[in-house]
Amino acid sequence: MSLNGLLDTSLQFILFGGKGGVGKTTMAAATAVELAKTHKVLIFTTDPAPSLGDSFGQAIGSDPTTIAGMPNLYAMEIDARKVLKEFKEEYGGEILDILQQGTYLADEETEELFQLDVPGLDEVMSLKKVIDFMQNSDYQIYLVDTAPTGHTLRLLTLPELLDQWIKFLATLRWKYHTVVRHFAREERIEKADEFLLEMKRTVKKVQALLQNAEKTEFVVVTIAEKMAVSETGDLLRGLERMHISSRHIIVNNVFPREEADFARQRRAFQERYVQAIKQEFRPRSITEVILQPTEIQGIDKLQTLGMQLFTESKEEV
Ligand SMILES: Nc1ncnc2c1ncn2[C@@H]1O[C@H](COP(=O)(O)OP(=O)(O)OP(=O)(O)O)[C@@H](O)[C@H]1O
Ligand SMILES: [Mg+2]
Repeated sequence: MSLNGLLDTSLQFILFGGKGGVGKTTMAAATAVELAKTHKVLIFTTDPAPSLGDSFGQAIGSDPTTIAGMPNLYAMEIDARKVLKEFKEEYGGEILDILQQGTYLADEETEELFQLDVPGLDEVMSLKKVIDFMQNSDYQIYLVDTAPTGHTLRLLTLPELLDQWIKFLATLRWKYHTVVRHFAREERIEKADEFLLEMKRTVKKVQALLQNAEKTEFVVVTIAEKMAVSETGDLLRGLERMHISSRHIIVNNVFPREEADFARQRRAFQERYVQAIKQEFRPRSITEVILQPTEIQGIDKLQTLGMQLFTESKEEV
């Protein structure tokens, strides 16, 4: 199996995700290098601890940076925390104002709202930034190296949470409206409402793109170990619930079968999970990637891996 299927489509947006440390960045970078042979490609990372720069062996900025030796390949790192901070600065003041006045900080959710410290909100904001970028630029394929599993799945719970907050603010507004009729405060609450609606629109926009199977594909990267397989199941189920297309799984770091003793033993135990992945996550295409003796860094190694990822008819690469 290989990632070849990605090429036969109208895909514009390919995300790479999975458990921490399984090789997401490396696989995304190698795929970008391969796709850049035929397309103009921009690869983003939304990981709060980005390592695309390490992978390409060069500095990457927060604007598209050309990758040396690859005329059609650009990379940029999105600082999710910075994006969220800007958003808070733009809209957050009114909410703080309102909540500081009253005794409304009773429950945990309100506290979260107060801090705007919502798990997954930074990822949503980064993806929004990606979408805004897509609307205003002319790359043919956009790749995203995402943060580890949990983050992406938290996207799921956001719309519901935002609805609850909107209701909460509506109650608050109604209360002031009937009891105090305090005009200035009323206005602030309206601004806060608008802020929540804006967040909700953002989440919806991100979801709409993610759920467009003609344009978007989520490639899951994993390794042949128990915890990783179970986390892969969680991720795939989450993606299915969110209606995000995910037909490719990369099983990274497998040992070559022909190596002696230690390697052979490792390979034998990995084989169980490789088979489990093939059975359980059918009919997805499964691409195995051999654990290399050294790290996969720099264009040359990425190029070799990229070619292998897209080579058909081998059991493993
Ligand atoms: N098949 C492989 N053989 C050898 N080394 C590999 C292989 N795949 C990845 N690596 C190396 O393993 C390290 C971790 O890979 P990578 O940074 O791609 O993982 P990640 O899933 O993005 O991690 P994080 O969750 O921290 O973002 C890197 O140094 C990379 O070069
Ligand atoms: Mg990474």
